[in-house]
Amino acid sequence: MAEVVILDSRAAAGALVADEIVRLVDEVRNPVLGLATGSTPLPVYEALRERLAGHDVSHVRGFALDEYVGLDVTHPESYRSVITREVIEPLGLDPELIRVPNGALETVRHAGDDYEREIIDAGGVDLQILGIGTDGHIGFNEPGSSFASTTRLKTLTEQTRADNARFFDSLDEVPRHCITQGLGTILRARHLVLLAFGVAKAEAVAAALEGPVSAMIPASAVQLHPHVTVVVDEAAASRLELADYYRYSYENKPSWQGI
Ligand code: GLP
Repeated sequence: MAEVVILDSRAAAGALVADEIVRLVDEVRNPVLGLATGSTPLPVYEALRERLAGHDVSHVRGFALDEYVGLDVTHPESYRSVITREVIEPLGLDPELIRVPNGALETVRHAGDDYEREIIDAGGVDLQILGIGTDGHIGFNEPGSSFASTTRLKTLTEQTRADNARFFDSLDEVPRHCITQGLGTILRARHLVLLAFGVAKAEAVAAALEGPVSAMIPASAVQLHPHVTVVVDEAAASRLELADYYRYSYENKPSWQGI
């Protein structure tokens, strides 16, 4: 069962996850972070700015979950640009060690396999940050995705395109395709940390954690993983049947246990 931590604010959630990441950076010889885009992980990256100041981060590797296909990497909304702006630059990470799937049309046929190999060569992901789409997607694994899937080309649903239109001038500009780590790729990370904030995510969070494991809710794949931490605010937790138990369990957690 995933550990579910219900907190008052996004800042508190960001701080909790950032503390765990700092521990990895300081204690693991070759830490590998799984990075997510979207608005959800921003409090984590913000909290990391001050926490990582003065720490040696030259050895930190990272792999982003996904990228748009056919959008120039220099476009401000390409996930390479977003990761550069939100993560690499503010945290002072080595851009060479932070990888994003290659969404260039010319190489997209083998870009998935190339990316899988890079993750394996790096020793796998230690901690994977995840957001969740309103339709229950993680990465860009839309409903119907195989639980065994690896990094590959996917078609975005109209709902996801509409959700992401806010980052572009118009809906027409939102790409129709993406390259995303598969659910199988994500499940190989050693620790999954799923974050969700706001009432718009409440239904997807409840379905993912308390509903049946189903390809219709790709995030329900987390039920198959042995080490999952879900960090949500009250609004995103509002549809969870077991919310009181999660609170009780977290409040009574032995102090020596991390997340
Ligand atoms: C995008 C990303 C996902 C992200 C999701 C939620 O589609 N590919 O990785 O989790 O949207 O976005 P947000 O965090 O902005 O709600």
